[in-house]
Parts: sequence; structure tokens; C-alpha cells
Amino acid sequence: MTGIPQDFVIIAIDGGAASGKSTSARALSERFHLLHVDTGSFYRGLTAEMLRCGVAAGDANAVDRALATLSLTTRIDGRSARMEIGGRIVPEAEIRGREVNEQVSHFAALPPVRQALLAYQRDQAGVARSHGFRGVVMEGRDIGSVIFPDADFRFFLHADPAERARRRASEGQQDSIAERDRLDSSRKTAPLACPVGATSIDTTHLNPAQVVAQLAATLAPRLTSP
Ligand code: DC
Repeated sequence: MTGIPQDFVIIAIDGGAASGKSTSARALSERFHLLHVDTGSFYRGLTAEMLRCGVAAGDANAVDRALATLSLTTRIDGRSARMEIGGRIVPEAEIRGREVNEQVSHFAALPPVRQALLAYQRDQAGVARSHGFRGVVMEGRDIGSVIFPDADFRFFLHADPAERARRRASEGQQDSIAERDRLDSSRKTAPLACPVGATSIDTTHLNPAQVVAQLAATLAPRLTSP
């Protein structure tokens, strides 16, 4: 016995756009050797693929047809899981671009789209195990409520809209986060909301290191830094 807990751990981090999820999840993945899974990038990749195929979110039949032909696999890139569609990773510049920013919440609101990604997201735990990670840190909107309601740790990050807009602008990104949050919070299926029992953290007045410190303090009794 080494005294170091080696059990597999699932950490869910939910929150709105620019609430601090990605920075925190990436830092935790480094510190605790966890697979970082950014599920927003999955919805973005799928949206880019739909747009590439000329499929509109309002055309339910075309969406269903496109989903039926999807083949999703995962490539490990450092400590991150990247989604491959038909063996191809959609480039970052495309999934963070204006068109995808505008469309992603419309596709993400469609139950067949969410269903198509449900098992794929849960399977990331198996991907992490088979690659020797100590666990998964998965970020999104419905991770602690739908994907892993029994996750070992569930966090919900939030911040004032003005502060979140400032963060996106400082990253040089044009992103109508208020509109996306409105759509993500008001949709019928798996809306953005703090899951019951999750730890809610207001990041408005915290810098990234302070957010990570708070999360890591909660995880520390279970995970010791390697
Ligand atoms: O995290 P992000 O801003 O990159 O996510 C892009 C969009 O994907 C977001 O506006 C809503 C959707 N999304 C979702 O519906 N469920 C998730 N688990 C993750 C993202």
C-alpha cells in the first residue's frame, strides 16, 4: 500500500459561457492526471459538421439523416479528449468561429443531437481508464445533471454577465454569450442549471488560479497530486 488513493474519479464542471470551466478543468487535469473532456467542443464539432453538410437546425429530417451517418471516435491529445467525426478532428479555428458560435445553441437544443452525444460522452470514462488516467474532468452544461449525475464531484461555476463578456473579449473572441446562455438555459432538454447537490461557485471576483485553488481544495482529500 502506498497510501495514495488510486481509485478512478469523475468530476463534473457545469456553467455558462466564460464562467471559468475550461481553464479550471484544464488545470485540474494537469494537476491530478485526469482526462480533460470539453463537451462544448463536441457540440461545436457536431455543429460545424452539420453546417459543412448544409444542414439547418430547423430541418429535423435533415438533422436525423446526418446524425444517422455520424461515426464518432476519440483521439487523446496530451490530457484532452478530441472528438473525431469520420476520423477527422474539426479544426479549433472552425469550432470557435462566428458561424458555429451563432448556431451551436440551436443544434444543442435538439433532443436527437443530445441523444447522439449521450453515450459518446459517458464512454469517455472508459477512454480515460484505458489510457491510464486517474479519472475524468468533464465540463459542459448538463454533466452533473444528465451525463454523470452520480459523479464523485459536481461543480457549477457562474459569474456576472458583464465579467463574462469581458473575459471573452480579452480572449479576442466575438461570442454572443448572453444569447447563448439564454438559449441554453431555456431549452426543454437538459437546460443549463445548477444541479441539485452540486457545489456552486461564483467566479466573478476570482482569478483563474483562485478558482482552481477552491476546486482543488475540495478534491484534495480524495486525490493527491502525483
Ligand atoms: O462550452 P461551450 O461554450 O464551448 O459550449 C458551446 C455550446 O454547446 C453551448 O452554448 C451549449 C452547448 N453545450 C451543451 O448544450 N451541453 C454541454 N454539455 C456542453 C455544451
